Amino acid sequence: MIEVHNLSKRYGEKLAVDDVSFTVQPGIVTGFLGPNGAGKSTTMRMIAGLDRPTSGEVIVNGQDYRASKAPMAELGVLLEAKAVHTGRSARNHLLALAYTNGVSADRVDDVIDMVGLHDVAAKRAGGFSLGMGQRLGVASALLGRPRTVVLDEPANGLDPEGVMWMREMLKDLAAQGHTVFVSSHLMSEMAQTATRLVVIGRGRLIADTTVAGFVALAGGHTVIVRTSEPARLSALLAGPDITLTPEGSDALIVDGLTTHQIGTAAGAAGIPLFELANQHTSLEEAFMEMTHDAVEYHATADVAVAS
Ligand SMILES: Nc1ncnc2c1ncn2[C@@H]1O[C@H](COP(=O)(O)OP(=O)(O)OP(=O)(O)O)[C@@H](O)[C@H]1O
Ligand SMILES: [Mg+2]
Repeated sequence: MIEVHNLSKRYGEKLAVDDVSFTVQPGIVTGFLGPNGAGKSTTMRMIAGLDRPTSGEVIVNGQDYRASKAPMAELGVLLEAKAVHTGRSARNHLLALAYTNGVSADRVDDVIDMVGLHDVAAKRAGGFSLGMGQRLGVASALLGRPRTVVLDEPANGLDPEGVMWMREMLKDLAAQGHTVFVSSHLMSEMAQTATRLVVIGRGRLIADTTVAGFVALAGGHTVIVRTSEPARLSALLAGPDITLTPEGSDALIVDGLTTHQIGTAAGAAGIPLFELANQHTSLEEAFMEMTHDAVEYHATADVAVAS
């Protein structure tokens, strides 16, 4: 379990993390979402004890994890992808880590197999591709059989097979009772992997809820209705807390009414309908909706291509 209490981190003028509190429970995968620069990596570094909070505190598995006798058995971390600058082979890199942490050599071979690096374990880790480096990072994080794992964008650089493997591995770890806290920008992946979400923007907590709860917070679902008389239907359905957005020449997106209510009203008024269907908000749409005001680095529409 990870307990984050009123955590803040200031870098000079910049308040990177601003009074954030949440709890990450064991037995499920918890996703950590937020736009670029939201403070995810900073929060994860503070959880890992690699960065000192300006204020607030983090408790991992009920204690200050650095004070633990076997820190590798408490917390496994994979922080933002950076190349392992080592002339050592992947296996020797892990063996050295195992040796200094009282972990057996058998476990090294287990994690090498788990992350699919068997064929390249004897190769120099410094020459690994981004995805192979990520796999090695995951192997390092899992080496001590940690009760809690914190992974910062672990799917970064993985091929589709690797992304699928990561998803299954995270779910397996959670099913075995581990606490799994994972950041990602891959929304469809998070929707399939995580049960709960912690969402931050500009250093502040935006939501701490289930995936379904987050989507519901962002509006949940809308209805698309296609008709030969969009203007009449629009006038008929208008009301407080109801949003009607025209879509093309013959459709409306309705927020605030059910398909049943729309169908009944249209039928009573003799307005023909060609289509009437629920549109579920995707996690990606919910994320955009909920974090829009917290996005610091908006892309501009114009892209200059050097000739
Ligand atoms: N060591 C540092 N010194 C100064 N500012 C920092 C430092 N680390 C992070 N920041 C700033 O803190 C803010 C949060 O950064 P952080 O890396 O935690 O964001 P993030 O949510 O991980 O973003 P991304 O999705 O891009 O990885 C940013 O504005 C960043 O520039
Ligand atoms: Mg980051």
